[in-house]
Amino acid sequence: MDLILECGRRAPNAWNHQTFEFIAVTNRPLLDRLADLTARYLGGEREEHNFFGAPLVVFITDLRENPMRLADAGCAMENMFLAAQSLNLGSVWINQFSTISDKLEVIRLLEEMGVTADRVIASVGAFGYPAAGPREKELISKVRYIK
Ligand SMILES: Cc1cc2nc3c(=O)[nH]c(=O)nc-3n(C[C@H](O)[C@H](O)[C@H](O)COP(=O)(O)O)c2cc1C
Repeated sequence: MDLILECGRRAPNAWNHQTFEFIAVTNRPLLDRLADLTARYLGGEREEHNFFGAPLVVFITDLRENPMRLADAGCAMENMFLAAQSLNLGSVWINQFSTISDKLEVIRLLEEMGVTADRVIASVGAFGYPAAGPREKELISKVRYIK
């Protein structure tokens, strides 16, 4: 877990300001409360929003005023995903929770987690033991060489 987080913290980020913060949550009751709130606002049951039952969920917050926070968080999260892969762990980006971070009850819960009002959730990632090995995927994106 420390290695994964260190790799996130070492990620490239705009101006090297390193204003991102990593909250590593292993507390299942807290994750359940977060999943309940997601279900309340986005619909469905807790089980559909329970971060895939992962034992570690990392919330990256950053200053609201950082215009590059999503890009910075993307770099940090990918660093952590690659670190997890190198340890034969699985990982996934979770978008749903970030989309409700402006709701009053969510703000209160984030306060409990020590997220101050000047910060927003920039990215959420779940880490755990994969149910299946990595799969081959068809690449759809294009590469064009201009020589
Ligand atoms: C910005 C971003 C948002 C994503 N949001 C979610 C999500 O909310 N829930 C989820 O299960 N997977 C999410 N994913 C994972 C993608 O669905 C997954 O990376 C994609 O299907 C390719 O699969 P692979 O990563 O196994 O190659 C997200 C990935 C990215 C990069």
